[in-house]
Amino acid sequence: MATHTSKNNSRIALITGGTKGIGFAVARQLAEKGIEVLIGSRDEIKGETAAEQLASENLPVTYILIDVTNHSTIDLAVTEVANAYGRLDILINNSSLCLKEPRPSELTLDMIRQHFEVNFFGTFAVTKAFLPLLRQSSAGRIVNVSSDLGSFYFHETSRESKLQCGYSTSKVALNMFTHQLAKDLKGTRIKVNACIPGSLTTTELTAHHSHSIEIATKSIIFLATLSDDGPTGKFFGQDCEEDKCFLKLSSLEPIRVLVTQFSRKSSFSSITNVGSIHQQVDYIKKQYEALDILINNTIIAFQIV
Ligand SMILES: NC(=O)c1ccc[n+]([C@@H]2O[C@H](COP(=O)([O-])OP(=O)(O)OC[C@H]3O[C@@H](n4cnc5c(N)ncnc54)[C@H](OP(=O)(O)O)[C@@H]3O)[C@@H](O)[C@H]2O)c1
Repeated sequence: MATHTSKNNSRIALITGGTKGIGFAVARQLAEKGIEVLIGSRDEIKGETAAEQLASENLPVTYILIDVTNHSTIDLAVTEVANAYGRLDILINNSSLCLKEPRPSELTLDMIRQHFEVNFFGTFAVTKAFLPLLRQSSAGRIVNVSSDLGSFYFHETSRESKLQCGYSTSKVALNMFTHQLAKDLKGTRIKVNACIPGSLTTTELTAHHSHSIEIATKSIIFLATLSDDGPTGKFFGQDCEEDKCFLKLSSLEPIRVLVTQFSRKSSFSSITNVGSIHQQVDYIKKQYEALDILINNTIIAFQIV
């Protein structure tokens, strides 16, 4: 992390993936409000350049190395923020990966994993690591930058819904993490929310129509600067209204039929073992020729103590 512009009482915000696009615009706007901003970047040159650009406008911005998929950079960043400030007030989980995807039926496990590594596991790891410093804040705010593609409601109702299964499922997981963490932290001074930013053309895959920067960043700024009586555990649209993300879940019909037969007659030992999956596919081909319904029923659950 470069030298800090100040160690005064201003609020401290960290934005992952803040060197460009929506993250960079959010960095500027928070800094313009007098908030001290740490631009997180996995690339030193991009990070330094972005921070210097804003610092040259007299904005309180510095760069911090953070690759959300690399635990040692996350740990180092936590140590640096702890040593410099002893707390973190605002964490904006903005980093994301959005690859050009084939149809869901042709999606590879590797591609879906890549999306989860950045968009979900990366966000989870960064949030977990910074939680002790957020607890030191008098008003901790966590903003998980999600997407309309992470909304069931959007996919069911919008003509702009796309087949982008890896990206979409990683954002759905992020929304549920937001909800769960907020419940866990209820009664603390930390608020956790997710939001859909406005559209901004940042890559060939993102929005085909761009909003203004103000609209693109509106929901993120709103949640980063929430007052103490503001909401927690919610998913907001770009207009800062609560999105109907989870409401439509109930419209999924219950599925029954083949799952009992499928599991009873088989010896499906491990869904994390590729060899075992192939064996199972061969077995079903031989026995039944086809599979009508696949219910992914396996879970792993730990008791929280
Ligand atoms: N743009 C839109 O219209 C739109 C719509 C809905 C939701 N969103 C969401 O809004 C957020 C910002 O979107 P954007 O379009 O501004 O994104 P973007 O321009 O693609 O920027 C993504 C940022 O994430 C960083 N990043 C990627 N992998 C990383 C890693 N492993 N560790 C740390 N940083 C990493 C990138 O860094 P590098 O420069 O090093 O690659 C980049 O700074 C994302 O969460 C996106 O899902 C955007």
